[in-house]
Amino acid sequence: MIRLENVKRIYTRRGQTVTALQCEDLRISAGEYVAVVGPSGSGKSTLLSLLGGMLSPTSGRIWLDDTSVYEQSVISRSAIRRERMGFVFQTFNLIPYLTALENVQVPLALNNVSPVNQVGLATAMLQRFGLGDRLNHKPSEISVGQQQRVALARTLVNDPQIILADEPTGNLDPTSREVVLKAFDTCYDEGRTIITVTHDLTAAARAKRRLVLNDGQISEESFSRAKVA
Ligand SMILES: Nc1ncnc2c1ncn2[C@@H]1O[C@H](COP(=O)(O)OP(=O)(O)OP(=O)(O)O)[C@@H](O)[C@H]1O
Ligand SMILES: [Mg+2]
Repeated sequence: MIRLENVKRIYTRRGQTVTALQCEDLRISAGEYVAVVGPSGSGKSTLLSLLGGMLSPTSGRIWLDDTSVYEQSVISRSAIRRERMGFVFQTFNLIPYLTALENVQVPLALNNVSPVNQVGLATAMLQRFGLGDRLNHKPSEISVGQQQRVALARTLVNDPQIILADEPTGNLDPTSREVVLKAFDTCYDEGRTIITVTHDLTAAARAKRRLVLNDGQISEESFSRAKVA
């Protein structure tokens, strides 16, 4: 279970204060598939960063089971991220000078998996995404959709319980987009928690729950209404 308790995130820049997110109580149970929608600037990425242990709240607490995430040391917080969470971004964030295989090995190396096992696990995951014949290609040598698949393989190779995605299908053609959404469906079937920010209403409709952000305020939207919209 993930819980936001009286969370406020305020940004101050050049004397101007923006309340990017304000939330009294939000609970996301293990195994939920949640889409976060809302206009540009409404606080979606802020919410995701707060949930992912990457951005501390100005006030309030964020709980992951019985752990108050931002009351941990930086080291234990990064261990939580590394061991329990997987991130997918619109811009993939692949390391340009590493091959597909090496990119997928990175999280395994950080978790002290032996080099031989790193290669085995990373290869299997890339094969699962249809990239068995692109192991030694660098990001610039494969298509955009293939880059997102490498990024997905890298996210999933560590077996994360929680997947946080920010516009994961934003840059993709319909076929590649479907690969990503299918991967999320599989993750849901496997009992992982998925929280995905998306502007894409068809992608949002694949989730089982929708959160709507407006000016930093979160509300629930029922699934049936989402389909009509
Ligand atoms: N580092 C920052 N410094 C100051 N203000 C920020 C910062 N990051 C975000 N904001 C402001 O906080 C609000 C929420 O931003 P956020 O990035 O969470 O929106 P978003 O819903 O993800 O938008 P988009 O759909 O365009 O990605 C916006 O008004 C934005 O201008
Ligand atoms: Mg954003």
